[in-house]
Amino acid sequence: MKLVCGNSNRPLAEALAAHMKVPLAECKVRRFADEEVFVQIHENVRGDDVYVIQSTSYPANDNLMELLVLIDALRRASAGRITAVIPYFGYARQDRKSAPRTPISAKLVSNIITHAGADRVLTMDLHAGQIQGFFDIPTDNLYAVPEVVRDIEKQSSRDNIMVVSPDIGGVVRARALAKRLSSQLAIVDKRRDKPGSSEVMNIIREVTGKSCLLVDDIIDSGGTLCNAATALLENGAAEVSAYITHGVLSGKAVDRINASDLSSLVITDTICETEAVLASPRIRTISVAPMFAKAITRIANGESVSVLFE
Ligand code: R5P
Repeated sequence: MKLVCGNSNRPLAEALAAHMKVPLAECKVRRFADEEVFVQIHENVRGDDVYVIQSTSYPANDNLMELLVLIDALRRASAGRITAVIPYFGYARQDRKSAPRTPISAKLVSNIITHAGADRVLTMDLHAGQIQGFFDIPTDNLYAVPEVVRDIEKQSSRDNIMVVSPDIGGVVRARALAKRLSSQLAIVDKRRDKPGSSEVMNIIREVTGKSCLLVDDIIDSGGTLCNAATALLENGAAEVSAYITHGVLSGKAVDRINASDLSSLVITDTICETEAVLASPRIRTISVAPMFAKAITRIANGESVSVLFE
């Protein structure tokens, strides 16, 4: 087995490699003067079971291109099987025609990754589960929920918790967490007129006196989460905190969180933390490296991955 990583999230790849006690393969990913991506794998990979670890996070296009050229280099070096390990799959939000004459970029990106030579995909908390079907190769979608439950149990008692989905699209994810915590579920009715701006219309369920836990796949501008937190407090919630798998946190999102009504935001390390995230008093990160390490080991051994979530 070989583990190869691009530049998007080296800390996660190193943590994962440490858990598996498998060193990261020697490989260089660099840029030509005009920013073209160039890679070279400095080890023999002929016939190997290779796992390429690369989130397609900011800068999304550069990181996607790195993933593609890494896969191409491995294929041309006769790797036996190539698994694209994409902890955060960027472009996932473009999973349908949201308006006339718009692309379905999630499908396009899935096609490109497959055509580059990936034999399998391993990812986490896809924006929509059906994106697995955009890949015509085996795709395992891991869930951060067991790590979230573990963290919640360490931090506080389960009493009085109300799990809240910040929009209708996140209800399935929020319900899964509520079920594991044996807690109730509330839903925020959000309206989004354009990307990056959203408005809370209603809260479905009584939240007075509850300790609300917002759960979602992505925090990007922070608008969805901060607006939901304010609306929940205005509706009588005792406290609002959040668990979000992918901390995209674009632009001034961290400042927004720091100034928000949220008591805390917990993200995972599917996306490499920025300086601003590390310095934030409100944001904490939990690692999903152990879960990826277990999943890769199981895939390599031909064992079930779903048992990780039973
Ligand atoms: C949308 O459906 C996603 O699940 C997230 O709610 C959304 O991407 C968050 O974006 P933002 O932080 O920019 O409001």
